Amino acid sequence: MLVFEDVYFYHQKDAPILKDIHFTIQSGEFVSIVGKNGCGKSTLAKLMNGLLLPKKGDVRFHHLKTANSADLIEIRQQIGFIFQNPEDQFITTTVRDEIIFGLENIRVPKEEMEQRVQWASKAVGMEFYLDSMPHELSGGQKQRVAIAAILAMRPQCIIFDEATSMLDPLGRDQVLTLMHSLSQQGLTIIHITHHMEEVLHSDRVLLLDNGQICFDGQPIDLFKSVSLKDYALLEPVAVRIHRLANEAWSFTADWEGALRQLWDTSLKT
Ligand SMILES: Nc1ncnc2c1ncn2[C@@H]1O[C@H](COP(=O)(O)OP(=O)(O)OP(=O)(O)O)[C@@H](O)[C@H]1O
Ligand SMILES: [Mg+2]
Repeated sequence: MLVFEDVYFYHQKDAPILKDIHFTIQSGEFVSIVGKNGCGKSTLAKLMNGLLLPKKGDVRFHHLKTANSADLIEIRQQIGFIFQNPEDQFITTTVRDEIIFGLENIRVPKEEMEQRVQWASKAVGMEFYLDSMPHELSGGQKQRVAIAAILAMRPQCIIFDEATSMLDPLGRDQVLTLMHSLSQQGLTIIHITHHMEEVLHSDRVLLLDNGQICFDGQPIDLFKSVSLKDYALLEPVAVRIHRLANEAWSFTADWEGALRQLWDTSLKT
């Protein structure tokens, strides 16, 4: 359970980035976080695992508190972070060393490491690349290695901060499939994205605007009740087609004409 209680954050005192943030994320939830560029999504994510500390209020993970420096090692082991650019997260020269590096940081006994390396690399389908150099891999493969390095630490929660945004459709699909499979295995998944198609299958979505949470609920209710354009977000195609179809069919019985018109309109909007 991840709890934000009355959280405020700023870099300069007179310019708060996050204000009065309250929410609880239950273990095993798949939560998407959306909002305009610069609205504070990454700041919120970094507060979750203590990469940033609140200026006011508390961030708690179960009995641990990010403000307690003694709790930080365990929090960072329990809450993994996958960044947008896979290049930014590699430190070593082989996939195997990359996974081992994280394990050394949390002091996993040497004799347990190989088994964890094998298990985590297999979980992301990268078991045949253990001796490859991370920088030579494709974008999707790099993100899967980054996920393996986190998984090997056996976290309870993984935050993906726009982790799919630099990938082609295949790489994106692979990472999204992996996220959903981890969620089905009981991990808590927090997915920051600008792609509303990716939000459709989450349990819950938080919409952030102007440093505050302005929607917290199921994706379907977000699409029904919020004008996404106001937040620089696009409706998922299925939702857009459904809305336009309702509008088109209400004034014509000519379904073929309506379909043609709908197609033209959908291309323009
Ligand atoms: N070190 C810093 N000093 C001052 N302001 C900062 C600093 N880091 C971030 N900010 C500001 O904090 C605000 C929130 O940034 P954040 O990166 O959390 O937004 P975001 O929602 O993740 O944006 P994006 O969608 O572009 O990733 C932005 O206005 C940004 O300029
Ligand atoms: Mg960001």
